[in-house]
Amino acid sequence: MQKSSKTPSRGQWGSSFGFIMAAGGSAVGLGNIWRFPYITGQNGGGAFVFVYLVCVLLIGLPLLLNEIALGRKSGKNPVGAIKETGGNRFWQSSGVLCVVVCFAVLSYYSVIAGWTIGYIFTELINIPVDFEVFIQTPLYVVPLCIVFILLTISVVLGGISGGIEKAAKFLMPILFLIILLIAARAVTLPGASKGIEYYLSPDFSKINGKVILSALGQAFFSLSVGWGLMITFGSYLPKGNNIIKSSLWIAGMDSTVALMGGLMIFPALFALLPGVSPDEGPALVFNVLPRVFDQIEPFGNIIGGLFFLLLLVAALTSSISMLEVPVAYFIDERKWSRKKATWTLGIAAMFLSIPSALASVKGNFFNLIHIDFFGNDIIGFFNLMDFFFGTLAIVIICLMLSVYSGWIKNVKVFATELTIGAPAFEGFPRKAWIFFIKWICPIVIIFVLLNMVGVFGAPEKV
Ligand code: PHE
Repeated sequence: MQKSSKTPSRGQWGSSFGFIMAAGGSAVGLGNIWRFPYITGQNGGGAFVFVYLVCVLLIGLPLLLNEIALGRKSGKNPVGAIKETGGNRFWQSSGVLCVVVCFAVLSYYSVIAGWTIGYIFTELINIPVDFEVFIQTPLYVVPLCIVFILLTISVVLGGISGGIEKAAKFLMPILFLIILLIAARAVTLPGASKGIEYYLSPDFSKINGKVILSALGQAFFSLSVGWGLMITFGSYLPKGNNIIKSSLWIAGMDSTVALMGGLMIFPALFALLPGVSPDEGPALVFNVLPRVFDQIEPFGNIIGGLFFLLLLVAALTSSISMLEVPVAYFIDERKWSRKKATWTLGIAAMFLSIPSALASVKGNFFNLIHIDFFGNDIIGFFNLMDFFFGTLAIVIICLMLSVYSGWIKNVKVFATELTIGAPAFEGFPRKAWIFFIKWICPIVIIFVLLNMVGVFGAPEKV
C-alpha cells in the first residue's frame, strides 16, 4: 500500500492479487465483525441484513467502481484526484472531508481495537472478564487504545509495512476459518434456532428510514467506500488491471465476512444470554463471544485468544489505511515528510481517542453528552463520532462523488476507464453503471438524508 512513498515516483501494485488483498484487508476489519452485528441488532435483525445487502449491491458496488476509476484516471490522492480531473474548490472539499473522516474514525476505531488487545490476554490466560468493569476502567481502555495507535503509527512509518501485508495474506484466511468454526459452534448450540431466525428471516415491517440510513452507512463503512481510500488505492493500479473483477472480489469477501460475523453472534446470543437484548450496542460482540469460547471444548480459550489476535491484525490492516489517507494528503499537498505527517496525525488521533475511550465509563461528561440532531438524540461521545463521521459524513462524500462523476464531469470518461482491462464491461453493464451513478446513487442518498432531517414526517431515533 505504501509503495508510492517508498519510491520517488508513484508506485504500482505488483499484481491484481496484491491489490485485492490490500483493498480487501482495508475493507475487512472491525466493521464486519464488531460493527455489523451490533448495528444489525439495533435495527431489528433480518430486515436490516436484507437492506444492507441491497445497499452493497446497488449503491456500494457502483460507488466502489467510481472511486477506483477516479483514482486510476487521476493517479492522485482524494483531493489531488479532483483537482487533476478539473474539479473546483467545492468538489475538492469532498476530498478534504475524506481526509477528515479517516482521521476522526481512526480515533474511535482504535478504542475498539484496544478492547480487542485486552481480550487476547484475558482469553489466553483464561480469566473471566466482566465486560462492564473492563470498559468502565480508564486504566485499561485508554492505554490499550494508545498502544493500538502506536502500532498503527509504526506500520505507517514504513518500517514493517511489507511484513504486515505479507503476514495478513496468510493470517486473514486463518481468521476466516476460525470464524467458520465459531459460527458452526454457535448455530449448533441448543436454543440457537431463535437467533438464526432473528438474523436471517426478515420482518419487512421493521424497515424504516433509520434502518435504511444505518444500512447504507454500514455498507459504506464496511466496503471502505466514501473515505477516499479507494481513490488512493486505485491511483496505484496499472492500466491493464480489471477493476470490475477486483471490485467484485473485494465486495464479495467483505460481505461474506460480515454475514459470517452475524452468524457467530445472534444464534449464540439467543442460546446463551437470553436476558441480553440484541440492541445493546458496541459491547455486543465482546459480551457474546467469550461465552461461545467457553462452549468450545477443550481449547476454547486458546481459540478465543487466537481469534482476538487475528481480529487485531484485521483491525490493523484497516487502521493503517485510515491513517495513510491523511498522511498521503499532507505529504502530497503540504509537502510534509512521512515521518512528520505520521507522528503528528498519530499523536493527534491519540488525543482525540481519549474522549471516545472514556465514553463507556458511566456517568462522566463524555458518556452523557448528547446532541439532538433534527429530533435524533445521539448520546455519548463515541456515538456522536460514529454518527457524524462514521455515517453522515461518509454518506455525504458518496453523494458528492457520484454527482461529481455523473454530472459535473463526463461520466463516459470514467466508464471508459472501467472498461480498460475489462472488455466484458462494454455494453449493458457499462450502461447500467452510468445509470446507477447518475441517478440511483444520488437519488437514494438524497432521499435518505432528507428523511433523516424529517422532511417526510417526524424523524425516527438514530
Ligand atoms: N472497512 C473497514 C472495516 O470494516 C473500515 C475502514 C474504512 C478502514 C475505511 C479503512 C478505510 O473495519
